[in-house]
Amino acid sequence: MSRLVLILGLGKVRRRIRGYKVILLCLLGICVISFLQYYKALHNISLLKELLSSFTHLKMLKMFGDMFWNFPAADFHSPHNFHKHSHPKGNVDSNVILPDPPDGKLHDRTFVLHDDPTPYFIHTKSGAVCFREGTKVAAFASRRRLQQHHRKINPKVKPISGDDMVGQCPCRQGWHGPHCGIPTIVYHSNLPSKSKVTPRKVPRRVINAININHEFDLLHARFHELGDVVDVFLVCESNFTAYGDSRPLVFRQQILKGMFDYIKHKILYIFLDHFPDGGNADGWIADDYLRTYLTKNGMSRLEGLKEDDVFIIDDADEIPARDGILFLKLYNGWTEPVGIHMRKSLYGFYWRQFGTLNVLSACTAAMLFKVYNGDGILLRRRSYYSMSGFREYENSTGRILVPWAIGSPVHYAGWHCSWCFKPEGIYYKLISAQNGDFPRWGDYSEKRNISYIKDLVRTGGWFDGSIPDYPPSDPKEHMFAPKYLLDNYEKYRYLLENPYTKEKH
Ligand SMILES: *[C@@H]1O[C@H](CO)[C@@H](O)[C@H](O)[C@H]1NC(C)=O
Ligand SMILES: *[C@@H]1O[C@H](CO)[C@@H](O)[C@H](O)[C@H]1NC(C)=O
Ligand SMILES: *[C@@H]1O[C@H](CO)[C@@H](O)[C@H](O)[C@H]1NC(C)=O
Repeated sequence: MSRLVLILGLGKVRRRIRGYKVILLCLLGICVISFLQYYKALHNISLLKELLSSFTHLKMLKMFGDMFWNFPAADFHSPHNFHKHSHPKGNVDSNVILPDPPDGKLHDRTFVLHDDPTPYFIHTKSGAVCFREGTKVAAFASRRRLQQHHRKINPKVKPISGDDMVGQCPCRQGWHGPHCGIPTIVYHSNLPSKSKVTPRKVPRRVINAININHEFDLLHARFHELGDVVDVFLVCESNFTAYGDSRPLVFRQQILKGMFDYIKHKILYIFLDHFPDGGNADGWIADDYLRTYLTKNGMSRLEGLKEDDVFIIDDADEIPARDGILFLKLYNGWTEPVGIHMRKSLYGFYWRQFGTLNVLSACTAAMLFKVYNGDGILLRRRSYYSMSGFREYENSTGRILVPWAIGSPVHYAGWHCSWCFKPEGIYYKLISAQNGDFPRWGDYSEKRNISYIKDLVRTGGWFDGSIPDYPPSDPKEHMFAPKYLLDNYEKYRYLLENPYTKEKH
């Protein structure tokens, strides 16, 4: 009996405390509202509106995070989390930051470059050197058998000598030159010394540098496209967006979770932990700085680099085709810097645009350091001839350096897929874009509207209201998309077919 009274009494006390809590919260609310009123009056701006819009920002980020990043759900409505996220310097998602592996910090490691022992060329008994992949090996063998057969019948038939067989590799479709190692995209390029290129005894090492934000599907496509020809991928991730907001280190998480196990032995992870001075006022500073840091930090952590190794810097949405990069790896005699003609498309590979995008993206390690001061952004800027080290470097190579580009305006040598995300990814790109790429569409709430974004994707329209002309495209066409995406069609269908039209290809 007395216990019951006690329990009832406790219940009353609890209820009373709860009552106080409600009153306290109400008071707090009134305080906030009057504070806002005061502020509004003072500055004549709608602070509340701003706060609300940043709150929807956060909700969208959360939604996006759940959809793409599989973060544990955190209650964004709880004041605790709101507080956490409203501080750009705060440790976002600290509860899910995975520890570095026991053998060292991901962003402190070094990478040792080794010569690639893959036998890319067949050295026939007769002395011919044929690129294995580009040569009809069966035809080659049968021709030799045929000749041997003829000799048996008629010994006067000249035996196959080494000299005879040089230039005698029977090329498969898509491969050219005496060794069948020149792919069509180089064969039809403007490389001036095309007829003078020769296979190397030891392949160059290939270094591919990129900055990553949330282009994870394109990242998998890159790794599968280039995984066997690139020796190391320098991948830079920052805990700041190009706009200066904080962002979680999603790529790092995904590596540690094992999502890149198939390629992680070739990844050198680079962590940019600061935002450059002046990056807020002029977004281009932030944008360039990403590439500068990527190259300087990444290259300094490579061991065994050689002067004739190949350095390639891409944006995450620029994927070079494998065969062109393989040519750079296996041949001597090409000039530099090297551009790449890329197929251009918007939102997916289905909105193909006219022409190609030709970006200067490759050079040797020697040129990177002697001409571009070890800064990858300078390579992309096409200003090599005005760089102070250029003439001296050109002189040291003993030849005239003219830029050229793999591919041509009608032969795609890669893919540039702009804004190729699901609508939530487009939204995230909008709000994390740098300040300075005006107009900055992420500043307009109506452009951040997901149904508006879906409509753009459906029509191929742009944020300025225009709807460009697109040439027809079909997933079956040559060089429609990287092979890995086509091979996994169901998984990447949203990039291969317009998700919002009824028409079926
Ligand atoms: C980024 O990481 C660095 C180093 O851990 C830290 O000092 C900085 O506050 C972080 N910035 C953000 C926005 O999280
Ligand atoms: C070019 O190289 C030659 C030797 O190969 C040297 O004599 C000459 O001074 C060099 N010129 C420049 C501009 O570096
Ligand atoms: C987004 O746009 C649609 C259609 O224009 C509209 O109905 C909807 O209210 C908008 N949503 C927001 C959050 O503004």
